[in-house]
Amino acid sequence: MHYSSKVLVVVATCLGIASAFNPGPKIHRPGSDKVMQVNKRQLPAEPTDVLSITTSSGVNITYKEPGNEGICETTPGVKSYAGFVNLAPDVHSFFWWFESRRDPVNDPITLWLNGGPGSDSLIGLFQELGPCNISEDLVTQINPYAWNNVSNMLFLSQPLGVGFSYGGKAPGSMSIFGSYLNAQEAPPDGRYPVINATAIDTTDLAAVAAWEVIQGFLSGLPQLAPNLKSKTFNLATESYGGHYGPAFFNYFYNQNQLIANGSAKGVQLDFNSLTIINGIIDEYIQAPYYPEFAVNNTYGIKAYNQSIYDYTQIALNAPVFGCLTQIESCYYANQSALVGQGVCTEAANECRDNVESPYYAFGGRGVYDIRHPYEDPTPPDYIIPFLNQASVQDALGVDTNYTSFSNTDIYYAFQQTGDFVYPNFLEDLEHILNSGVRVSLIYGDADYICNWFGGEAVSLAVNYTHTAEFRRAGYIPMTVDGVEYGETREFGNFSFTRVYEAGHEVPYYQPIASLQLFNRTIFGFDTATGTQKVSANLITNGTAQATHTESFVPLPSTSSASPSASATSAPKIPIIPRNKWARYEKKARLVKDASN
Ligand SMILES: *[C@@H]1O[C@H](CO)[C@@H](O)[C@H](O)[C@H]1NC(C)=O
Ligand SMILES: *[C@@H]1O[C@H](CO)[C@@H](O)[C@H](O)[C@H]1NC(C)=O
Ligand SMILES: *[C@@H]1O[C@H](CO)[C@@H](O)[C@H](O)[C@H]1NC(C)=O
Ligand SMILES: *[C@@H]1O[C@H](CO)[C@@H](O)[C@H](O)[C@H]1NC(C)=O
Ligand SMILES: *[C@@H]1O[C@H](CO)[C@@H](O)[C@H](O)[C@H]1NC(C)=O
Ligand SMILES: *[C@@H]1O[C@H](CO)[C@@H](O)[C@H](O)[C@H]1NC(C)=O
Ligand SMILES: *[C@@H]1O[C@H](CO)[C@@H](O)[C@H](O)[C@H]1NC(C)=O
Ligand SMILES: *[C@@H]1O[C@H](CO)[C@@H](O)[C@H](O)[C@H]1NC(C)=O
Ligand SMILES: *[C@@H]1O[C@H](CO)[C@@H](O)[C@H](O)[C@H]1NC(C)=O
Ligand SMILES: *[C@@H]1O[C@H](CO)[C@@H](O)[C@H](O)[C@H]1NC(C)=O
Ligand SMILES: *[C@@H]1O[C@H](CO)[C@@H](O)[C@H](O)[C@H]1NC(C)=O
Ligand SMILES: *[C@@H]1O[C@H](CO)[C@@H](O)[C@H](O)[C@H]1NC(C)=O
Repeated sequence: MHYSSKVLVVVATCLGIASAFNPGPKIHRPGSDKVMQVNKRQLPAEPTDVLSITTSSGVNITYKEPGNEGICETTPGVKSYAGFVNLAPDVHSFFWWFESRRDPVNDPITLWLNGGPGSDSLIGLFQELGPCNISEDLVTQINPYAWNNVSNMLFLSQPLGVGFSYGGKAPGSMSIFGSYLNAQEAPPDGRYPVINATAIDTTDLAAVAAWEVIQGFLSGLPQLAPNLKSKTFNLATESYGGHYGPAFFNYFYNQNQLIANGSAKGVQLDFNSLTIINGIIDEYIQAPYYPEFAVNNTYGIKAYNQSIYDYTQIALNAPVFGCLTQIESCYYANQSALVGQGVCTEAANECRDNVESPYYAFGGRGVYDIRHPYEDPTPPDYIIPFLNQASVQDALGVDTNYTSFSNTDIYYAFQQTGDFVYPNFLEDLEHILNSGVRVSLIYGDADYICNWFGGEAVSLAVNYTHTAEFRRAGYIPMTVDGVEYGETREFGNFSFTRVYEAGHEVPYYQPIASLQLFNRTIFGFDTATGTQKVSANLITNGTAQATHTESFVPLPSTSSASPSASATSAPKIPIIPRNKWARYEKKARLVKDASN
């Protein structure tokens, strides 16, 4: 691939999977004024035997049962529905619902969202925690550690334009940057969603749109799953889901209260838990940990030298142009106005280009796994060819092509508002914690882009009713059947877990631990051991720092993907300095001043 490093770096965001790494997109020659002819055979056919219902609130849902055609959830007796919540002629949101394999009547409802912005929740479905994954010969195989072993699961592709969700659709192709090109711009190779990417370009707007889709879906659920009794709702997210999780949950929670007291119509839920895996929650808190993680991680890897490190420190801390100062300016700015969004975007650019990205340019190591090479062959990308098979398209009831996990137009639309560095996600998290809802932060300790140092810093910076007790709690081993998979700090409804030997997509690397972390979170067991019911005063009595180390992993060649690092006989290396709350306190003052 001959992208400039700048493009690669910018696209290599919290995408979950960066589209630029996929071998997929072909190079087209834009600029031709001829309308290219579509090869009809390449356009997916209209799906057959699509079923539909009108829900109690008048929403049209179209769907199929892919499991009946051998796709994904083939466990006998376990139902699954894939289809669209059609809210308007130009709003069609793709969902995939899986009944719980255990007790679909009484098990809760969990919504899973990947990040991006612009990344598809089918990443999580096929690569992480869904009922199946895709084998090299492009068939689905059962995942024994799927999260629908303990919960009904809803996977939603959002906002519109992500995955199979569409506003309109038309023949076209994808540019080398992963953006949609119509038939006038380049020879079409398939049919794709056509959207106005700037219509939903902030997390807060996406939350409003997602709630409408979820309410539409829930209003049809009595017809799709007539026996389901549970109204217990969990949200689980990853990566840019560090933004989505807190903002969506908080917005949903407030809308639900309006439904509860009769001031809004809709399906009322019981809000139970929020899980965030390797999330970017607050750039101001997390940005300083890019350089720290790059040179002083628990794998003994020093990804770049002192000169580069010094450069990142200037980029981070310099007055006026520094990453942190610019984020402070963003807090003062009006984020609803063009100028304010520009200020925030510039802040995000400075942080990404000069604090985060030197690792990509000089480290040679994986964005999502420091043990891997930059062009990381894991997890394998069989999903894209799988989803472009006519038989699979028909079984899912879709007629658009799938060439990337991530919609680049949506990514850049969010980039242009500066959503990446907005301050409200930490505040949303604080509201959620104060409301008593359970929150689990889970971070794989090999991920660079949303690394656990930054996640831990967020957990300690959160300012809520039990901040003092949470900070007083220590780390204890997180175990399943006697095997230690990580370290957890927990007080009451809040926990932070570092998972050993896991990259960004934690459930892919540590499926057993991930399933139990999820199971314990949603059913109210202590996160570390699953042996006690969680109570308001539950506290982990352990060490102040998560000091476990791993042995050094030499940079592997691009062709091999062995993530295995032996946990034995690791040299004890000291871990990061925590310059504590000073920065956060400064930030909190600024936020307060700005809102006065
Ligand atoms: C789009 O899907 C059709 C199958 O319906 C397939 O023949 C075609 O190659 C796909 N296009 C791309 C770019 O994958
Ligand atoms: C829902 O919309 C689809 C597609 O427009 C249509 O074919 C179907 O008849 C509608 N279903 C109902 C129940 O109105
Ligand atoms: C799919 O899951 C099976 C069963 O857990 C596992 O053996 C296999 O390696 C996985 N394949 C991929 C491509 O992740
Ligand atoms: C998940 O459920 C399947 C089917 O019920 C079962 O075979 C499997 O053992 C379960 N996995 C775990 C980890 O309990
Ligand atoms: C896209 O959406 C934005 C925001 O709703 C709107 O201002 C703009 O006019 C739309 N663009 C097009 C081409 O429809
Ligand atoms: C309903 O709840 C909302 C949010 O808590 C509150 O703002 C509103 O005043 C309440 N309305 C009624 C009618 O109680
Ligand atoms: C540090 O690394 C950079 C990039 O590889 C290189 O240009 C520079 O010479 C190195 N500096 C030292 C002091 O080794
Ligand atoms: C922020 O900008 C929006 C859009 O221009 C404007 O409507 C709003 O009044 C501004 N808010 C403040 C506090 O200036
Ligand atoms: C969920 O966790 C509880 C508490 O540790 C345990 O008893 C139960 O077996 C777990 N469920 C599954 C399916 O692993
Ligand atoms: C932790 O310590 C507190 C106070 O010393 C004690 O009350 C509590 O039982 C301990 N919890 C555990 C799990 O050991
Ligand atoms: C790594 O972190 C340790 C512990 O916080 C600190 O003492 C040490 O100076 C750091 N080393 C580097 C190279 O930053
Ligand atoms: C935390 O919140 C409390 C109560 O809202 C406030 O008084 C305090 O200043 C906050 N602390 C920080 C560090 O922001």
